[in-house]
Amino acid sequence: MDYNSIRKTFLDYFESHGHKIVPSASLIPNDPTLLFTVAGMVPWKGILQGSEPAFAPRVADVQKCIRAGGKHNDLDEVGYDGRHHTFFEMMGNWSFGDYFKQGAIEMSWDLLTRVIGLDPNRIVITTHISDDDAANIWKKVSGKDTIKLGDKENWWSAGDTGPCGPCTEMHYIVDENNPDPDSRMVEIWNDVFMQFDRDANGNLTPLPKQNVDTGAGLERWAAILQGVRDNYDTDLFRNIILATQEVVGVKKNDENTPSFKVIADHLRAVGFAIADGVIPSNTDRGYVIRRILRRAMRHGQMLGHRGALLSKLYPVLIREMGDAYPELAAAEKRVVEIIQNEENSFADMLQNGMKLLDAELPKINNGVLSGDVAFKLFDTYGFPLDLTQMILRDKNISVDTDGFDRAMAAQKERSRADTKGTRTLWESQTQLHATDDVYKYAPDENMDSRVLAILRDGEFVQNASVGDVVEIALDKTNFYGTQGGQVGDMGEILRNGETVMTVTEAARANNIVIHKGTLTADVAVGDTVRTKINATVRQQTARAHTATHLLQAALQHVLNDDVAQRGSKVSPDSVRFDFTFGRPMTDDEKTAVEKLVNDWIAADMPVSHEEMPIEAARKRGAMALFGEKYGDVVRVITAGDASCELCGGTHVYHTGEIIKAKINKEKSISSGVRRITMSVGTLAE
Ligand code: ALA
Repeated sequence: MDYNSIRKTFLDYFESHGHKIVPSASLIPNDPTLLFTVAGMVPWKGILQGSEPAFAPRVADVQKCIRAGGKHNDLDEVGYDGRHHTFFEMMGNWSFGDYFKQGAIEMSWDLLTRVIGLDPNRIVITTHISDDDAANIWKKVSGKDTIKLGDKENWWSAGDTGPCGPCTEMHYIVDENNPDPDSRMVEIWNDVFMQFDRDANGNLTPLPKQNVDTGAGLERWAAILQGVRDNYDTDLFRNIILATQEVVGVKKNDENTPSFKVIADHLRAVGFAIADGVIPSNTDRGYVIRRILRRAMRHGQMLGHRGALLSKLYPVLIREMGDAYPELAAAEKRVVEIIQNEENSFADMLQNGMKLLDAELPKINNGVLSGDVAFKLFDTYGFPLDLTQMILRDKNISVDTDGFDRAMAAQKERSRADTKGTRTLWESQTQLHATDDVYKYAPDENMDSRVLAILRDGEFVQNASVGDVVEIALDKTNFYGTQGGQVGDMGEILRNGETVMTVTEAARANNIVIHKGTLTADVAVGDTVRTKINATVRQQTARAHTATHLLQAALQHVLNDDVAQRGSKVSPDSVRFDFTFGRPMTDDEKTAVEKLVNDWIAADMPVSHEEMPIEAARKRGAMALFGEKYGDVVRVITAGDASCELCGGTHVYHTGEIIKAKINKEKSISSGVRRITMSVGTLAE
């Protein structure tokens, strides 16, 4: 059975058992606690937790996943065995309060044994030590006794907080005489019974509904169903490895096999992540992808290859997986350009860094590379620490990571710019009610709000006095808290018509809008207040935001359709817009973009603000950012026939309100990403 047939068999089975089949969500989760989508349940976390309604009682899909950082990290295993991947496809079925243990176990067993015909005698089941129900159901359904294990094996959660529960794993015996259990069996499916929500202190609260979350690794199924021991010997990987042999001009042999596996794996992680909108960078998920790409280049170098590698292999990825994931081909030009830029900028650093490292090796006598050298490799030659470790692993040399951390900390201290601020304090207030801020779209609505929390000098207090600099959370607000690149509102908080606080900025931490400013009267938690935003500043920000949409549309007209937003900052009358484009814009192009934006402003087109399900928005051709998933209700901002975008920001109602737009600067900020700064409104005039 090839990959496409397995995907289809899985989805057909669950469709015929009443499940709604949905496409894979993005690898970029709409979840600040995760860098990547690490499991099929990530898009459904809100539903499992009960904070979002379920769009169907039963759902199934095949989800793109990356496990290469944080709690779920398989990066270091890749290449050295046959079953680990940074990128993989997780087949899964969910019950949102519909069937529970009985239904999940029955269907798993039926699909494994009857539909795909696995030998029941080779299937080994584990259950959680506390879960007699699951063990009893297995006995009835399969006649099998289960192996009972503890939290480490049979309790599952995506992150440190959130929905979790006991699970039951199905393992398949692939090599019965192997004494090592990890080699004898391979885990092929995990059914999680999502019953609890874990808070930041580790406390478990029962969820409102009993849910099922399952995950089955497609690559492992492919290996078993194709009769091979190693996932990298399945059709998909064989084809990628054949193409890699062509590009590097070396054949795979016993010694160099890990390099071929690493390259095949990393091609998928890098290709899919960038197609979904990740840009290699020095932070967060961008850095994970940069590290993976650099590791792949190092393995290319070990095979004797120099220069671009993954950018040459990306078309092979499209050939192998493009039918199941059309987004790969749709983004081809952009992805290849970004990978090429990244490969070009690292190629020389890799050669030079290797020279430095080779010169250091003879000086090592205790089997440990000094932290300072590792840091120099990092700082000057762009070697991520794990790349240096990977290079030295074969030589049995480790890295003094404490020394590396010290060198890093010393440098951070030197360039201390980033202060974390109070955001983490707010984020730790998990019991605090999310702010109802629908009123941000109705800024003139007068409603009573209640003071829920006051933060002063890093501490939450019950009362604060006139003159105090504080941050306040309310149950409801008209303020727009900084989000999606748009800076927050300014304004006032009033009590009985009197100003009690001048708000210099409304920020956001998770779902809480934070009003920052200075008190002009004493305030206590529980007070009833009203919010009043500064309408002039709001209007300046709104016209900058609508102008940003026009700018993106104009860039796509003048440059090409692949231009995609990579970040933005929308402030009163000014716009900073980052987008993917591989070279500087010419003066003519800049003039043409500016003219188009101003033509649209002069045409005074109506701007509509509508809410609709994501599917309706897609049908309308709305340009989506990342993170939305099936079932979400989104806001769609349509400016005449010029632009249609998903956006939660605030906007003008006619393009004429923008008055005028003026491009000030266009420059590069990282490989493949350009930045435009633009003024609008009276500032542009
Ligand atoms: N979410 C579960 C897992 O990833 C099914 O194993």
